[in-house]
Amino acid sequence: MQRTKVVDVLTGQDKGKEICVKGWVRTKRGNKNVAFIALNDGSSFHSVQLVADLAKFDEDTLRKVTTGACISATGLVVESQGSGQSVEMQMTSIEVLGEADAETYPLQKKGHSLEFLREIAHLRFRTNTFGAVFRIRHAMAFGIHKFFNDRGFFYIHSPIITGSDAEGAGAMFRVTTLDPVNPPKTETGTVDFKEDFFGGPTNLTVSGQLEAELAAMALGQVYTFGPTFRAENSNTSRHLAEFWMIEPEVAFNEIKENMDLAEDLLQYLVQYALDNCKDDLEFLNQQYDKELLDRLRFVVANKFERLNYGEAVEILKGSGVKFEFPVDWGTDLSSEHERWLVEKHFQKPVILTNYPKEIKAFYMKQNDDGKTVRAMDVLFPGIGEIIGGSQREENYDKLLNRMHEMHIPEEELYWYLDTRKFGTCPHAGFGLGFERLILFVTGMANIRDVIPFPRTPQNAAF
Ligand code: 4AD
Ligand code: MG
Repeated sequence: MQRTKVVDVLTGQDKGKEICVKGWVRTKRGNKNVAFIALNDGSSFHSVQLVADLAKFDEDTLRKVTTGACISATGLVVESQGSGQSVEMQMTSIEVLGEADAETYPLQKKGHSLEFLREIAHLRFRTNTFGAVFRIRHAMAFGIHKFFNDRGFFYIHSPIITGSDAEGAGAMFRVTTLDPVNPPKTETGTVDFKEDFFGGPTNLTVSGQLEAELAAMALGQVYTFGPTFRAENSNTSRHLAEFWMIEPEVAFNEIKENMDLAEDLLQYLVQYALDNCKDDLEFLNQQYDKELLDRLRFVVANKFERLNYGEAVEILKGSGVKFEFPVDWGTDLSSEHERWLVEKHFQKPVILTNYPKEIKAFYMKQNDDGKTVRAMDVLFPGIGEIIGGSQREENYDKLLNRMHEMHIPEEELYWYLDTRKFGTCPHAGFGLGFERLILFVTGMANIRDVIPFPRTPQNAAF
């Protein structure tokens, strides 16, 4: 018999029919006469209840039906006697596909800490929490493609291995096939990267932006959505060494349109989650964060606050709050400042623009004041920076000057400079950190809990 997914069974569509379900046992309880098995197959947050009349089943088989075991069961879908579900299945046959020894299966009991579950990341998919998180993560990835596709953007695959290490977004991971113990040397004693796989030093990308800009200069509106890598030693609940980033880039957009696009995207995605991930969000709201749903609805319903970096600094300085890191014009804001602005002062998402050029990347459009660039950061409650972006410097001479000032070798980025040489135009884009988005939408507190296999300093186990 063909398998019916639990999500479909629970709609009641098969009431009165004989069906087959397959999945993993969440719990088994009962009495002398009857067993109740909660079966989950991942298709829904909810499990289906299987009711087994003990007299009709072989004792040995039922003994193997323990938490974590995988079974295939057939039976009749009937109106549920108990509360909490509308239908259940009266089991007529069962096959144990995979046993899970009750003595050694680590998820025997409920209520494990998230820290413990991180240590068994290979099994944590099977918990309510991680089922919910990863279904939501999928929905957000799908929603992102839908948002851009519906607006006529083209999805560009930027390279993961790159030869340029000039963007300055963060420390890079080297990619090499050279023998680390005994690498080939040049006459002067340095490592001879000419002998390396690509004939020169290469790294894992920190961002697909520069390549996206090349594509935007021809296709108009593009976005990337791929893994990015940063070798910073920041062991925080907001940083990963391998994370996914969405980077739209749009020809003819200036900073105002860039902010509008960022705000539209974030509100669309949060609404998408509210519309498509109801059961999972309700569980997370109940289990981890009673204000989650209210916060999501609030973000959709209210315009983001927009102000200059300089104004934000004045507000922070006048706040009377004693921050760990003092703030003054010219300093980079840290997450305590960002979160105070969002959570305490404005109590809504904030977009800061026009940052000092010294603390931002070389490619940002320079303002006429000679001091600031047309950067924008979107700051979110509980997260801090969720998006970083800017209008780009489209003037060849100004861009080249800035590269010289920042000691960025122009020969390495000749291809980037070419866009400013041939048919340049105003354009803008930004990067949305996918895991930071998932943190916000799920209400989880640690970024290690919203990516299946987190890579952080000292940790890249399987
Ligand atoms: O602000 P960032 O460094 O911007 C860029 O990389 C630009 N090239 C983006 C662009 O304009 N196309 O990173 C963008 C976002 C941050 O706002 C944050 O959400 C996320 O990426 N991010 C990280 N997420 C997890 N772990 C890390 N180590 C992250 N670093 C940045
Ligand atoms: Mg940033």
